[in-house]
Amino acid sequence: MFSLKNKVAIVTGAARGIGQSIAIELARNGADVVVSDIIPGNTTVDKIKKLNQKAIYIKTDISSKEQVENLIQQTIKQFKKIDILVNNAGIFIPGETKSLKEEDWNKTININLKGHFLCSQAALKHMKKGASIINISSVAGIMGYSQAAAYCASKGGIRLLTKSLAAEYGPQGIRVNSIHPGIIETEMTKGILADKKTKQGMLTKLPLKRTGKPIDIAGPAVFLASDASSYITGEELIVDGGWTATL
Ligand SMILES: NC(=O)c1ccc[n+]([C@@H]2O[C@H](COP(=O)([O-])OP(=O)(O)OC[C@H]3O[C@@H](n4cnc5c(N)ncnc54)[C@H](O)[C@@H]3O)[C@@H](O)[C@H]2O)c1
Repeated sequence: MFSLKNKVAIVTGAARGIGQSIAIELARNGADVVVSDIIPGNTTVDKIKKLNQKAIYIKTDISSKEQVENLIQQTIKQFKKIDILVNNAGIFIPGETKSLKEEDWNKTININLKGHFLCSQAALKHMKKGASIINISSVAGIMGYSQAAAYCASKGGIRLLTKSLAAEYGPQGIRVNSIHPGIIETEMTKGILADKKTKQGMLTKLPLKRTGKPIDIAGPAVFLASDASSYITGEELIVDGGWTATL
């Protein structure tokens, strides 16, 4: 039921962090994986090959339509099909709204929201019945946070992009869901979690009393990629150690 044998997956932002963990766990469950990122993805590719699955790295800036089209074309050339797309790549530029630079707003929306759209649009042209798109949003796509207007707007946009695509492509048997991680230990949160007081404040709000690891998001991604979730589409899966449940 959870098997991804003979499936082909693309994971964006898969060179490190949550994307790397998702790529590896998709492979562990039988998928061949296209590792896509703007930084080198060789480490992820090597780890997947050790699991006896095929993996290739395709350098892609997901905010560029041209590069996204190349990603999809190269994937089809190499693997002939796309069963799973995990839109994971993202950035977080915190800052007070009054002084937020227009270029930082644009960069955030272009990568976090337009990038997910461009990858979905290009991949959908090759997806068939049974395919699954998984968009990595955030709890910041459900609730607002101070000093994170662009990030929250982009992640909230992903939530409804997901539901719209689910409505549009459900009749073709293509499922689209979003995952909303809470606080996960990666490069993105390194700075925030390095502050002991901030981390302690977060832990008091977390029912599970720990911050998440990338693997905590990979399991839910495998579930949403597999037939185990074949009647789930347009869903927002919150994976946050119980944080939002207590609000
Ligand atoms: N870490 C958390 O607590 C957390 C919480 C909620 C949501 N998320 C989301 O999870 C996703 C992964 O984040 P992470 O924590 O692993 O962070 P990360 O910074 O470790 O990984 C992000 C990856 O995306 C890549 N990337 C950045 N811009 C790109 C672009 N234009 N094109 C292609 N790749 C690009 C980076 O090179 C990096 O490998 C992001 O969408 C993030 O918003 C993270």
